Amino acid sequence: MGSQWSKDSVYKRAVRDGYRARSAYKLIDINERYNVIRTTDNVLDLGAAPGSWLQVLKSMTEGHLCGVDLNPIVHLDNVTTITGDFTDPAVQTKIREVMPVVNVVICDAAPHLSGSKSFDQVRVMALNEEALDLAVSLLNQGGNMVMKSFQGTDFNDLLDLVKQKFYFVRVIRSVATRKGSTECYIIAKNFIGAANDDRKPHES
Ligand SMILES: C[S@@+](CC[C@H](N)C(=O)[O-])C[C@H]1O[C@@H](n2cnc3c(N)ncnc32)[C@H](O)[C@@H]1O
Repeated sequence: MGSQWSKDSVYKRAVRDGYRARSAYKLIDINERYNVIRTTDNVLDLGAAPGSWLQVLKSMTEGHLCGVDLNPIVHLDNVTTITGDFTDPAVQTKIREVMPVVNVVICDAAPHLSGSKSFDQVRVMALNEEALDLAVSLLNQGGNMVMKSFQGTDFNDLLDLVKQKFYFVRVIRSVATRKGSTECYIIAKNFIGAANDDRKPHES
């Protein structure tokens, strides 16, 4: 009760600050703690609607911003948006066309939940793997990734995959995540790069 991160207070704060969703504070919190977005980075935002992370990104970098979502994203100045499923090869081709250089991939995407915990966890892991594969195919060496996930079955296997690709990996809970949720964010920094795949990543 009374915490600055209680559901109502975060919602009211988002309205006051002009953000489209309360998740804005999750990215702010992550970047304050881990400095994943540098001032000139080009950033690809997967699962970006309604667009609060894109709003926040505009104050973090002067680089090119691109948001992709199944749902249309209401226009934001100087932001490219793509409506579609980021796992669809045609959408991935479009992403490559508009973003030839990607320094950071952030992914807040989550499938629609069915209510069956075990079924939903399988779908979350599958979506996370798709996002990781796409990031690995797009990122420059030294690039960063932030990905929402949920702790549960197969989460450690997913984390092992991330550790094979990035030198620095951490799993955190955002201060703005609701109490009792298994939601977490994987912070992956310093992409090893395709040319250096034989190098051993650092332990996290
Ligand atoms: C929690 S919301 C993202 C909120 C966003 N970070 C913000 O701050 O406004 C998750 C989004 O992921 C999108 N999503 C889920 N699966 C997707 C997919 N395969 N391709 C594109 N978007 C997807 C959903 O449509 C939804 O809008």
